[in-house]
Amino acid sequence: MSGYATPYEALGEDGIRALTSAFYDYMDSAPEVAGIRAMHGKDLAPMKERLAEYLIGWMGGPQVYAEKYGSVCMTSPHKGYAIGTSERDQWLLCMDKALEQIGAEEALKQMLKEPMFAIADMVRNRD
Ligand code: HEM
Repeated sequence: MSGYATPYEALGEDGIRALTSAFYDYMDSAPEVAGIRAMHGKDLAPMKERLAEYLIGWMGGPQVYAEKYGSVCMTSPHKGYAIGTSERDQWLLCMDKALEQIGAEEALKQMLKEPMFAIADMVRNRD
């Protein structure tokens, strides 16, 4: 038993911010994800905050991103980028490494596995 009903209950806002920080730090440093790093602006700090705001709601907490930006559909902000299976898998690798980095427990990783894949695959806009 994990003792929590949602990833938000497990991590809280601080945990989710630590996760997105580790996510973009990995993206910024690992050669195998250089392809998606190159799609992003030089300064990743604003993205750390935006992804945290999005994930806080997506993981079962308050809808911070929706309140600020209106929409929670992730396909439109990604329309201008060529995202295929390779880019999706690079993104998911950053997430796996970030979960490891923050010391997420196995139950949480399992809880996130399928929905994270599903949302990353939804953002994909080509093969
Ligand atoms: C599947 C691979 C993905 C790639 C390659 C990708 C790449 C990108 C890029 C290049 C941007 C624009 C960054 C900038 O403005 O500098 C962006 C924005 C964003 N991405 Fe992704 N992304 C992916 C998946 C996801 C997923 C699955 C989520 C949510 C769980 C997500 C959440 C966001 C958010 C919240 C923004 C900011 C949108 C805004 O408010 O303008 N991304 N992404």
